[in-house]
Amino acid sequence: MSFSLEAVSQRYITDSGEVVHALADTTLTVEKGSFVCVVGPSGCGKTTLLKILAGFLKPTGGIAAVDGEPIQGPSWQRGVVFQHANLYPWLTVRKNVELGLKFRNVAAAERRKIAEDCLALVGLAGFEDKKTYELSGGMQQRTQIARVLANDPEIILMDEPFGALDALTRERLQMDLLKISRERRKTIFFITHSVEEAVFLGDRVLVMSARPGRVVLDEPVRISETYGRILPGKELRSTPEFVELRDKIADQIYESQGDAAR
Ligand SMILES: Nc1ncnc2c1ncn2[C@@H]1O[C@H](COP(=O)(O)OP(=O)(O)O)[C@@H](O)[C@H]1O
Ligand SMILES: [Mg+2]
Repeated sequence: MSFSLEAVSQRYITDSGEVVHALADTTLTVEKGSFVCVVGPSGCGKTTLLKILAGFLKPTGGIAAVDGEPIQGPSWQRGVVFQHANLYPWLTVRKNVELGLKFRNVAAAERRKIAEDCLALVGLAGFEDKKTYELSGGMQQRTQIARVLANDPEIILMDEPFGALDALTRERLQMDLLKISRERRKTIFFITHSVEEAVFLGDRVLVMSARPGRVVLDEPVRISETYGRILPGKELRSTPEFVELRDKIADQIYESQGDAAR
């Protein structure tokens, strides 16, 4: 599944009647199987963009489409992962992961098998019967990812999913997500505050300007191609190519912040 935005824009009207121009005209195509990272200053419309793609929000201008079909609303084929897991604390890890399947009337035995497979994939084998409040933040995020994978969506939309995790946990989850995205060939749209994370994960990085947000840089990432994905994360991050691209993107964000940041 690929998705596209055709002159998509978003204006909000606040409770006090003020018009907020959150997203400027944005035209964009994301190919099936790609891993696109989005960075940009806080408040530039990243979450707005994700909500439009998820089908939570109908844009006030333009058309957002999946495989050429306009997005009408949320769909299990577009899984969403947020910064905080929003798991049901009274359910076990397994039951949380099975929930979407249950709503779709998948038989109990099959649900169980899919949940176990997905939990194993995110490194949570053996934790199936824990209650989610017994888990660390990293494990809760893993559970949330397993819950999305259980629905086998073609597109996964992620909004700063590792933003609240400590550095070590974050790096582990990054490695695991890369592995999963390649094994399962998902299309991933990943918002992050961290330029380093974007360059590490993405095969394409979009930089957005300050509000009203628009894409000011659309940069392919070829570092892992160059190194054939052979270097462990830590070494990849210190290659000259990685550092150069990271700095280029960071400079672009700084420039695009506008006068407010100066
Ligand atoms: N429902 C809403 N009503 C009014 N303004 C909103 C609403 N949602 C977001 N905004 C505003 O739109 C802008 C973009 O928000 P958002 O997409 O959350 O940015 P980001 O995720 O890049 O930080 C911000 O200025 C925010 O305050
Ligand atoms: Mg946001």
